[in-house]
Amino acid sequence: MPESFIIEGGHRLKGEIAVFGSKNSSLPIMAASILTGGKLIIDNVPPVKDIITMAEILRYIGLEVNVGENQVIIKGEPKSFEAPYELVSKMRASFELLGPLLARFGEAKIPYPGGCRIGLRPIDLHVKGFESLGAEINIEKGFVYARAKKGLKGNKIYLDKPSVGATRNIMMASVLAKGETIIENAACEPEVVDLGNFLKTLGAEIEGLGTSVIYITGKNELKSIDYYKVIPDRIAAGSYIIASVMIGKEVLIKNVELDHLQSLFMKLKEAGVDNFQLKEKEVLIRGVKGWKGLEINTMPYPGFPTDLQPQIMVFACLAQGSSVIIENIFENRFSHVGELLRLGAKISIEGRTAMVQGVPKLVGAPVEATDLRAGVALVIAGLVAEGETEVMGVDEHIDRGHVNLEKEFSDLGAKIKRVKKA
Ligand code: UD1
Repeated sequence: MPESFIIEGGHRLKGEIAVFGSKNSSLPIMAASILTGGKLIIDNVPPVKDIITMAEILRYIGLEVNVGENQVIIKGEPKSFEAPYELVSKMRASFELLGPLLARFGEAKIPYPGGCRIGLRPIDLHVKGFESLGAEINIEKGFVYARAKKGLKGNKIYLDKPSVGATRNIMMASVLAKGETIIENAACEPEVVDLGNFLKTLGAEIEGLGTSVIYITGKNELKSIDYYKVIPDRIAAGSYIIASVMIGKEVLIKNVELDHLQSLFMKLKEAGVDNFQLKEKEVLIRGVKGWKGLEINTMPYPGFPTDLQPQIMVFACLAQGSSVIIENIFENRFSHVGELLRLGAKISIEGRTAMVQGVPKLVGAPVEATDLRAGVALVIAGLVAEGETEVMGVDEHIDRGHVNLEKEFSDLGAKIKRVKKA
């Protein structure tokens, strides 16, 4: 049965919230466990739907996987180099199994990742990278087959775009390749660095993490380790921060990697928001007042993250003045705009640019989440809107990245409950 949130807006948030571990870091780190053996505890992993899907895929591949409240335990050796369509089609990140499977088995077969609501999301950069490492790639009957029977060989790879997924996939493949691989125009996202640090603890030789040139010297094999702790989820943190600066009475957000959110803090300051204090790994937000419009350009890290674009748009909707939001990463990431209009927002779109004219208030209405981050943005909009908002699509989209978003906000005093729809 589909599930919705019913939100009674206008309740000021008060209390403490601790940010959970990064889903987008945990997924590739789980995939990279294929490169090692033994018993591995990955700590600070949220048991959200995407993590459960990745666990199911790894079980299919032959590993023993246990998903706990905050940890994933992976044991055993992978037996298969194939991943099944039913699971892979649920989540694009599962394509990042191709690199480690190819490195470990010399071949891999993964369903071509399906369409995605935020844009086309091609795999050409992944494919070009694997081909540069000497793999033969065939796309047939909806599957991507990669073969490198004689093993992978390091090479220089230039990415036309600093793709997070392609950088990680190539990194995972090249740690077992012969010789040196250089990834030019690599992604610098914290989730790429986290995966790189994990691989380094397995004995991989990697330099340049967090810069646009990554150097990897291949090893014959990697060792097994017992424990790795994933970084905090910067997108969840950013979402709580955006909600709290708008409607927080006094909110302490803990377990925040402040360095990862500099673009958000700078933009909030530009909009005249000064009701937050940054401490070590904590953000304290007190009181609410008006804010100005702002200009947002989503960019690869350290630019403003595309994954916070829907949430900051809610903020822009209630600004005094107009804002311009340009989505540079995904070509179709404005599905929340139509829903925000239903709440009384004033937004027009031209190509990749959204022009937002601030309004004094939003008024509750039924809206539908069409992807994870858009869904979180609509929940934030419901919290600040006057009256009742129903957010549909919770189980399909929001649960992919939050275990219990309604509890997270209820604990802060919001009025939000989950209902099943007949
Ligand atoms: C990851 C994140 C996602 C985030 C995105 C951008 C995970 C699981 N997901 O997605 O939440 O929104 O980074 O920060 O970590 N591209 C190509 N060819 C390719 C690959 C990508 O053209 O082969 C393009 C994409 O269409 C997009 C851009 O590159 O326009 C960036 O995509 P990418 O960084 O690869 O995003 P993901 O890794 O899929």
